[in-house]
Amino acid sequence: MKNEGITRDYSCEYFNPDIETMSRRQIEALQLERLQDTVRHCMNSEFYRKRFEEAGLKPEDIQSLDDLRKIPFTTKQDLRDTYPFGMASVPLEQCTRLHSSSGTTGNPTVILHTDKDIDEWANQVARNLWMVGLRPDDVFQNSSGYGMFTGGLGFQNGAEKMGMLTVPAAAGNSLRQIKFIKDFGTTAIHAVPSYLTRLKEVMDKEGVDPHKDTKLRVFAIGAEPHSEEQRKRIEEMFGVKAYNSFGMSEMCGPGVGFECKEQNGLHFWEDYYIVEIVDPETLEPVPDGEIGELVLTTLRREAMPLLRYRTRDLTRVLGRSCPCGRNHVRIDRMKGRSDDMMVLKGVNIFPIQIEKILMQFPELASNYLITLTTDEDNDNMTVEVELEELFTDDYQRLVALTKNIQRALKDEILLTPHVKLVPKGSLPQSEGKAVRVVDKRKVYQ
Ligand code: COA
Ligand code: AMP
Ligand code: ZN
Repeated sequence: MKNEGITRDYSCEYFNPDIETMSRRQIEALQLERLQDTVRHCMNSEFYRKRFEEAGLKPEDIQSLDDLRKIPFTTKQDLRDTYPFGMASVPLEQCTRLHSSSGTTGNPTVILHTDKDIDEWANQVARNLWMVGLRPDDVFQNSSGYGMFTGGLGFQNGAEKMGMLTVPAAAGNSLRQIKFIKDFGTTAIHAVPSYLTRLKEVMDKEGVDPHKDTKLRVFAIGAEPHSEEQRKRIEEMFGVKAYNSFGMSEMCGPGVGFECKEQNGLHFWEDYYIVEIVDPETLEPVPDGEIGELVLTTLRREAMPLLRYRTRDLTRVLGRSCPCGRNHVRIDRMKGRSDDMMVLKGVNIFPIQIEKILMQFPELASNYLITLTTDEDNDNMTVEVELEELFTDDYQRLVALTKNIQRALKDEILLTPHVKLVPKGSLPQSEGKAVRVVDKRKVYQ
């Protein structure tokens, strides 16, 4: 239902009070009930039926939350292997939307949604925005990419459900973003953190002081790793509170985890997900407080529930209670990845995608280096690649080749890297496994 917030008591701290303030015992009882429902529902998917058969497992074997560990993990590769619709647990005619994740080679991953999935997803986002003090009289500007990026429609639907006037500004065009902020009295923005520093730079050039010339008071920042220092810097630059937002397309999109006003970790919504942290090598659970890989099980998804999905994000449990009155688990900001995926400007990229494109150019040798930097408050990628043969005397040919490589890379990775062609043998030769990526942004801290 759209505009649900306007009928609510604005002074209530919670959007779903009954659920948000549940005790641990109540959360776990609800999780078991929903896990059993989800597992039964998964048997409508050819993929999970086969997985359970192979593991000698039946839905009735799941009698406690600990029994979850009997279920095999689901991976991104499983999603690729069943592309496009092999994971569906409902007939396609019941699905009303799909999203497809960036950062894959070969087949992308496809996530299906029913109307109910979209509504529940919007509820999670609305819950988060209400939690940090936004109300229907706020004006919410979404500077995320729309289209397949779930940050676009995900925040759009959530902010509308909460009842705010919503400005679907989408990514880019900073001058227009600033005009909207001023003209529409924007009080809250969702954006990737690296973009907000760029936006401030443009504000400075335009002589706009966010403290005096805007009504901004809340940022939802996420979709890419960032440090506590980056958050503080953004808060000070704008005089705005910035809350960390975690999500991923496979789970729905943004909405999965969000900080409350205490800013002491992300509350992951345990009525929607079961959270496990496992050792990425042994796949055994790690104790609270220890860093491991985040594994998530969906509890409410209709179109495409996922059991024990390996997110590859590294983090840890901080606690299971909070002064805000919510006992939903608190998870630390992301500390790294257990694979080689990079997230730049909110876009997911694997080095192999870049390699695949470079290999299509016969003029290039096989050695390349990807460097990620923050330059003048804009995040950038530079791809240095060795030329098979030097032809630096033919300047035009060099420029044309550089442009062609840049265009081909942009089509593949959805953002524009700087490309530098260098003589063969000039990039560092690594012993053993080649070092292909140097990340100078220091986002994982
Ligand atoms: N979000 C919003 N705008 C961004 C951005 C980001 N992450 N990164 C760059 N921009 C802006 C730039 O400031 C620039 O606008 P300006 O010159 O008016 O200030 C414009 O987009 C183009 O920037 P550039 O760095 O040349 O772009 P690019 O070709 O490398 O591609 C985007 C950048 C913005 C198109 C691409 O990174 C994108 O779509 N990012 C959004 C991803 C997203 O929303 N993820 C959320 C997933 S849930
Ligand atoms: P996508 O499926 O495109 O939404 O990308 C999801 C991935 O983005 C996650 O698995 C994380 O690696 C990353 N991500 C999303 N939100 C955050 C966040 N708040 N902090 C760090 N990384 C994030
Ligand atoms: Zn809290």
